Amino acid sequence: MSKEILVLSGPNLDQLGTRSPEIYGTATLDDHVDRLRAKAESQGFSLRHVQSNFEGVLIEAIHEARHTSAAILFNAGALTHSSWALADALAMFTGPAIEVHLSNPAAREPFRHTSTLAGVVQGSIAGFGGFSYDLALDAALALLV
Ligand code: DQA
Repeated sequence: MSKEILVLSGPNLDQLGTRSPEIYGTATLDDHVDRLRAKAESQGFSLRHVQSNFEGVLIEAIHEARHTSAAILFNAGALTHSSWALADALAMFTGPAIEVHLSNPAAREPFRHTSTLAGVVQGSIAGFGGFSYDLALDAALALLV
């Protein structure tokens, strides 16, 4: 089994730190990834991170992960609410895929209440700020070891 965990980040998450800090906090995406990498490595896993503002790049990262990664932690940003192409790609991934959100989309504007990914992931973790990522990694590790 692959020992790689893919953390996949969609549009606008590269702006974390200065993007609506009252909603998303002040930590940068690198801060989250560095913390997750240290934790994954302490459990014998490597961590790869891909961030893109382009849907096709995210789709191709999922395709590649089918051959390289044991699990995917995916914050698709606003594409969560619109992208059936990402859902189709994720449906082909056979390992655990976990949907992650810093905020709780269900408690926000109505357009955020729908997730195209919800039906093709193992589960979703939302609303705990940066800690959502830690909880998602814990879940993935529990499923893998
Ligand atoms: C988000 C929630 C989405 O609705 C939003 O478009 C994002 C971030 C989150 O992590 O809370 O870009 O995925």
